Amino acid sequence: MRQVNESRVVKVTNTRYREHYHIQTPAGWLNDPNGLCFFKGYYHVFYQFHPYSAEWGPMHWGHVRSKDLVHWENLPVALVPGDPEDSGGCFSGSAIVRGNRLYLIYTGHHYYDDDNQDHFWENQNVAYSDDGIHFTKYTSNPVIEAPKDNSQDFRDPKVWEHDGQYYLVLGSREQANNRARILLYQSDDLLNWQYRGPITESRSIELEGSMWECPDLFRLNGQDIIACSPMGIQPQRHRFLNLSQAAYFIGQLDYDQAHFSHYDLHLLDYGHNFYAPQSFLTPDGRRIQFGWFSSFDNPMPEQADGWAGALTLPRELVMHGDRLGAIPAQETARLRTGEALNTSAIIHSPHQLTVTDPQHTEWDLTFDLTGYDGQVSWQLANADQNLVTLSYDQGSGEITVHQHGQASDRYATIGHVGQLRARIFVDTSSVEIFINDGAATFTERYYTDDQPVTTTLAASRPTATAIKAYTLDMKG
Ligand code: FRU
Repeated sequence: MRQVNESRVVKVTNTRYREHYHIQTPAGWLNDPNGLCFFKGYYHVFYQFHPYSAEWGPMHWGHVRSKDLVHWENLPVALVPGDPEDSGGCFSGSAIVRGNRLYLIYTGHHYYDDDNQDHFWENQNVAYSDDGIHFTKYTSNPVIEAPKDNSQDFRDPKVWEHDGQYYLVLGSREQANNRARILLYQSDDLLNWQYRGPITESRSIELEGSMWECPDLFRLNGQDIIACSPMGIQPQRHRFLNLSQAAYFIGQLDYDQAHFSHYDLHLLDYGHNFYAPQSFLTPDGRRIQFGWFSSFDNPMPEQADGWAGALTLPRELVMHGDRLGAIPAQETARLRTGEALNTSAIIHSPHQLTVTDPQHTEWDLTFDLTGYDGQVSWQLANADQNLVTLSYDQGSGEITVHQHGQASDRYATIGHVGQLRARIFVDTSSVEIFINDGAATFTERYYTDDQPVTTTLAASRPTATAIKAYTLDMKG
């Protein structure tokens, strides 16, 4: 097995933006979560990793594991690229346990010999491990090669078991019409795969995209869901405003016909910084998702310090009416190292909240809005800037999130609610917002150097508000 060249590994030079309780690299670049699973008593999370700089580069699989889903231990890099099956990178993929063995199924990325990074081809490969730490690449890789009608985009396998058979879906772009599609494969041993064909295709590049990266197919409350990260969608008023965004279809997969019938595409998260999410099933049957605090389209000031990117907290996927939503995994409560506030107040403008460590705090706020007509807001700021502001306007039923430095705000319509509950997780350089038990989530980053930050609530009319806050840390 190839090894990382330790003498070339980059180092963190400044900890000012380092997160305290999110998965991040020891140093170097991170993007998508990969290979989420539970194996031999541990949760495992892998991630797209470039250990030699804080920029995206030849992709490795970084690796952490945890007993409780929130306290993570760094493990040696699981996959190092450069073998014939993955000459240009070990791209995203997933994991599955079969017997006593953990299998990783990932994309081999390859460049042609013309120095053009946009000119590549891709295949699918297997690696396995019996201890969950050391991985061996399968000697007969690749296990899947692209069908003839495919463009160069052919990646990010997500594998699962159904009725004693293994299946995987892949993100693909069809050559002829340049549209996104999802391909289905079937196997009885994870090594020999039969092509079942495209199960669904983008109806329009503008509305649904030209490539669905990182597809994730799973079942929730009797429905099949495909989550994916579409490229090429055009903004539609207040929706699809990011260059890279994560979205989903609800439908049904017909395994016999290899066809996925579904409703419209919806956003998975309404914030500025959420991409390439993946999910897995916990032993007690919850569907847990991690995403990447993207992205490729925004500056990441931490790159100056030798690292880039982090993964979100684990989120439990839930149905909220007929939409998919997320709540913080219950295990996040184990990150609490102390109660910082537990009070209630009549909020009018503006009301500053004092906690010991405002950059490492979980907020649980409930605004009573019965008979109300106005706006309420939560804001994280330093002396110079409003870093992140969340506001809800009861008249329009819309939530707006502002992030300093972003050209435009982000929105989610939740309708007219009598109570607004906002659970907000602030870490050194990120904010995750969960509204009303799955109605909407916003994933944001912010950057502030040495300046102290303040947290403020405001309301356009007096509002009774229950306020809880906890200090959070992974070392607790
Ligand atoms: C999504 C993605 C995947 C790919 C990986 C490469 O962010 O582009 O499609 O496998 O990142 O790092």
